[in-house]
Amino acid sequence: MPGRVEGGGDVDRDGHGPGYAAEIATSTATRYLLLLETDLNRVFSRSLGSVAAAEFEGVTDGLLAPDHRPFDLATSSLGRAKGLSFASTAEPEVLQGLLGQLSCGLALFERTGDDGALRPRPLIESLAYDTDLVSVQRYRGKTNERLTRAMLNLALASAGIDLTGPRDPIPTVLDPMCGRGTTLNWALCYGLNAIGIEPDAGALRHYDGFLRTWAKQHRLPHKHQGFRSNNAEQRHATMDVAPTRAAQKAGEGQRIETFNADGGDRTLAIKRGSVDAIVTDLPYGVQHRADQAKLDPADTVELLTRVAPAWRRWLRKGGSVCVAWNVKRASRVDVAVALAEAGLIEKVPEHDHAHSMRHVVDSTITRDVLVAVAG
Ligand SMILES: C[S@@+](CC[C@H](N)C(=O)[O-])C[C@H]1O[C@@H](n2cnc3c(N)ncnc32)[C@H](O)[C@@H]1O
Repeated sequence: MPGRVEGGGDVDRDGHGPGYAAEIATSTATRYLLLLETDLNRVFSRSLGSVAAAEFEGVTDGLLAPDHRPFDLATSSLGRAKGLSFASTAEPEVLQGLLGQLSCGLALFERTGDDGALRPRPLIESLAYDTDLVSVQRYRGKTNERLTRAMLNLALASAGIDLTGPRDPIPTVLDPMCGRGTTLNWALCYGLNAIGIEPDAGALRHYDGFLRTWAKQHRLPHKHQGFRSNNAEQRHATMDVAPTRAAQKAGEGQRIETFNADGGDRTLAIKRGSVDAIVTDLPYGVQHRADQAKLDPADTVELLTRVAPAWRRWLRKGGSVCVAWNVKRASRVDVAVALAEAGLIEKVPEHDHAHSMRHVVDSTITRDVLVAVAG
């Protein structure tokens, strides 16, 4: 597909640097407006513009060649609606597919003519399963669905995985602190394999029950295996599922494996270098329930320092990690250093004024997001 690079990079295929790209871009670029879906979660919606812009930058930087990357990115308010305006030389069809996967893209318009009239350019979203998989479960401590999708998008783009391209083999996403599976469910919706680790057996029981009911209600071909508690491999359940019988026969189904264990347990049966992306929302150091105290360690940096070496071991080279954490518990620098010590190097945005994903959740939690790549 023209305008794409595998795994990103600073120099285009002909050896031209970023300065050359910018020069050509401004002369031939088309201007666009991406309208954003607002979120009923009002806390999150306050930061929607900057969070969406940061996701937009991360995804397009990871998957488009330098001379096709959007520029002049700005957030705009249109009455009750919010949007992102930008310019790009990429083919509109490429943008329709790439931006169709963003967590809060609602509609894309190309600006045409002298008056900048808006011409619709439908976003293309291709999901293996309906998003009720992500939205049906409701529980305290659930990570915002939109944020989880944005994090998954950032991790996949940083690992050079383009969801609009062919998948062979099917990439694997790991959430080593998976709770009741919001990340795993998005990975499934994207048609990817998913592995979850969680020390709270109750959370895994809920998740497993939910998955089985979901597969039955949707009449999806599936095979489920539950494991006895305290089995030597600390396995909780495994499910193979496919959107259709034809997809199952063609080997295009997904596998979800869960482990009832610590998120940094190197002895788990997860092959070295077998994971493409790790996406996780770290414990906030804030208790949702009294009995959860032991599962919500206050020292984020200590936890991350302990688990990160196993994450590096499971990730393939060039694979990526996207973490969200409570900045009231750990600074961005400390999180970056804890990951770097294990060989997971923060991906610093190339733009001088890159947008931030940092947002206020409530009086005790301000969340930020960081992406690192396995060197
Ligand atoms: C913010 S929650 C994640 C929620 C999840 N994303 C969801 O939507 O269901 C953090 C999770 O980390 C888990 N946790 C705490 N300590 C852990 C550890 N050492 N290893 C793995 N998970 C841990 C908690 O039990 C909790 O489920």
